[in-house]
Amino acid sequence: MKLSVPAGSIFASPDFTVGVATSSFQIEGAADAREASIWDTFCRRPGAIADKSDGLLACDHVNRWREDLALVASLNVDAYRFSVSWPRVMRADGSVNQSGLAFYTQLLDFLNAHNIKAYVTLYHWDLPQYLEDRGGWLNRDTAHEFARYAEVVATAFGNKVFSYATLNEPFCSAYLGYETGVHAPGKASRAYSKKAVHHLLLAHGLAMPILRKCAPEAQSGIVLNFTPYYPASDDPQDKTAADLAHAHHNDWYIRPILTGEYPALLDALPEEEKPQIIPGDMQIIAAKNDYLGVNYYTRAKVSAGDDRGFEILEPASEVQTTAMGWEVYPQGLTDLLLQLHRDFTLPPVLITENGMACDDTLIDGKVEDVKRIEYLQSHMDAVDKAARQGVLITGYFVWSLLDNFEWALGYTKRFGIVYVDYPTQQRTLKQSAKALRSMLATRCSQA
Ligand code: NOJ
Repeated sequence: MKLSVPAGSIFASPDFTVGVATSSFQIEGAADAREASIWDTFCRRPGAIADKSDGLLACDHVNRWREDLALVASLNVDAYRFSVSWPRVMRADGSVNQSGLAFYTQLLDFLNAHNIKAYVTLYHWDLPQYLEDRGGWLNRDTAHEFARYAEVVATAFGNKVFSYATLNEPFCSAYLGYETGVHAPGKASRAYSKKAVHHLLLAHGLAMPILRKCAPEAQSGIVLNFTPYYPASDDPQDKTAADLAHAHHNDWYIRPILTGEYPALLDALPEEEKPQIIPGDMQIIAAKNDYLGVNYYTRAKVSAGDDRGFEILEPASEVQTTAMGWEVYPQGLTDLLLQLHRDFTLPPVLITENGMACDDTLIDGKVEDVKRIEYLQSHMDAVDKAARQGVLITGYFVWSLLDNFEWALGYTKRFGIVYVDYPTQQRTLKQSAKALRSMLATRCSQA
């Protein structure tokens, strides 16, 4: 089973970036060489993590980074997206952990020496616990702490980094972390999440001019996740419900960034849920971005219900789902990109994550993850379809390079194109990694 690039596809263009992605907490380990993060604390909470695991060792990437980056290089990719761990760089006393910074400098030097563009995310959910102790994302000061951290990183790395992302999926930090509580820090109240979002977006907006100043040649922006919502039936109430879900979970994040305004829904929120917006905040949040990162995995159907006015449904039993229970729906990615293109004046779009969890098994040294190859092919085709209809899309990253710590689901879900045998830490290229490698080799020879 191969991955193919049809003639004329955007994936065949030499300017189109194809990469693989990871994040710090999910792979690094070496927790004793950094400050604690909210995920270290959350992992100790009884019942929080499906397999009771934690990120203390994870993929032991801090010790095995040479092997891991050699794997990246072997895949013929143009780019590698990874994140910097804030608690590995900034100490609780406000000083900079130079050896933490030095760890990432080695990665950047390796990538640059191998002509692989470094896409660096500054915040992929691992908030230092010492900041959570001061209120975390509910405290406006955290946004200013983030700006200071961004300055330290961008001063140290500058243009060694091809592209910076301020935040990864602020929806997950805010909604899962502060409203449902299934992610760290595990707070659960509707009164929290929109306040947390506001401070996250402010952090993004405060960091953007700093990134421009310290790394003027780098492409800087933000990574958002989207789930396109479809009405469960033709009933107009379901259509209203799908629009509401979109306003809360998608539009709430992109609209302020691109237009400086929250969705109209803001006025309808109960007083206790409203964020405190200080004059000038929205202009800061609407700082110009060089690109928009889009993470896409699935879609969802929505019906009227619940006191919010919508209910997000589980996929119907007949549809194909991933090991996460998420519907495989490539058309959703095309629909999403076209909708964003209609609704906004978009900067160039990068698909910063796409991939699937499979029940992979290592048999005789092989992992035959045919379903993942099919998933990647159909989603790459979906990206191409949107590009042909006028959306400016400049790259695509597979999530993930390695099997890793899948947050509240621990190590039970495998998203990697490289299999990790956790007891031995042995890495094995899955069939999908080999398919990607061949696809990209053909592309290189055609260019
Ligand atoms: C999005 C997140 O950025 C990443 O950390 C996570 O592992 C994948 N989705 C899969 O759930």
